[in-house]
Amino acid sequence: MKFENSWDNSFRSKSYSKLEFPNTYYLAYRDLPVIITKHIKGNLAIDFGCGTGRSSRFLKNLGFTTIGIDISQDMLDYAQELDPSGEYKLVSNGKYSHLGQGKFDLIQSIFTFDNISGWDNRVNILRSLSDLLSPTGKLICLDSNSEIYTHEWASFSTKDFPENKIAKTGDVVKIIMKDVEDKSPVKDIFWTDHDYHKLFNMAGLDIEAIYKPLGSESEPYNWIMEKEIAPWIIYVLKKLNKIE
Ligand SMILES: C[S@@+](CC[C@H](N)C(=O)[O-])C[C@H]1O[C@@H](n2cnc3c(N)ncnc32)[C@H](O)[C@@H]1O
Repeated sequence: MKFENSWDNSFRSKSYSKLEFPNTYYLAYRDLPVIITKHIKGNLAIDFGCGTGRSSRFLKNLGFTTIGIDISQDMLDYAQELDPSGEYKLVSNGKYSHLGQGKFDLIQSIFTFDNISGWDNRVNILRSLSDLLSPTGKLICLDSNSEIYTHEWASFSTKDFPENKIAKTGDVVKIIMKDVEDKSPVKDIFWTDHDYHKLFNMAGLDIEAIYKPLGSESEPYNWIMEKEIAPWIIYVLKKLNKIE
């Protein structure tokens, strides 16, 4: 069965375009400036799965010259409207060479792989993205911890989807976003941390660091599970050194 991208739809893209960094989303972005400073040299970036541009504007604010790319024209239209001088491009899977092979210091992917199905498809996309990296370039891949789909969160609810509990890597799971107008369930692809490790290895990527941001008592949010379980996992990846 073909997996349909939940984001290729005008009501959803409009709803998403109003989203900033509320609640659980705050934890996805909170530590990124420090992580990026620590791991990235240079300032040329691709934002893979830029959506309505929130993550691209975030990178631009950190000083990166950024190209946002996505497979949904609906999402890109909002990104361009919110950032008229920004560069946003429609792409198809694995076809990125026109952007500049070996040129980019950072490829950022935030929540994008949550929507990408199939091992072969993911490996192909990751390999093609890594071809865009400069020799010292890194890929920062931030996705849902698989445990997000079986608990309640400040920004998400999954209690109506008990079937998520038996999901395996590659299965479709459902989650409701509480911070946006569009409350219809988002369909994501479930992927375990263990299988992310396997995937990166298959794509010729080495894990340089992993971050699992937890909420803290002092933050002004009504955390539910966020202090005990990290809702997101951030992987910093580099190309595997080839032995000549
Ligand atoms: C949840 S949104 C995240 C947007 C943005 N990164 C952010 O943090 O606000 C996920 C985005 O990934 C895009 N996407 C899904 N599959 C993709 C693919 N194969 N290639 C590029 N973009 C994809 C969707 O169209 C959607 O805009």
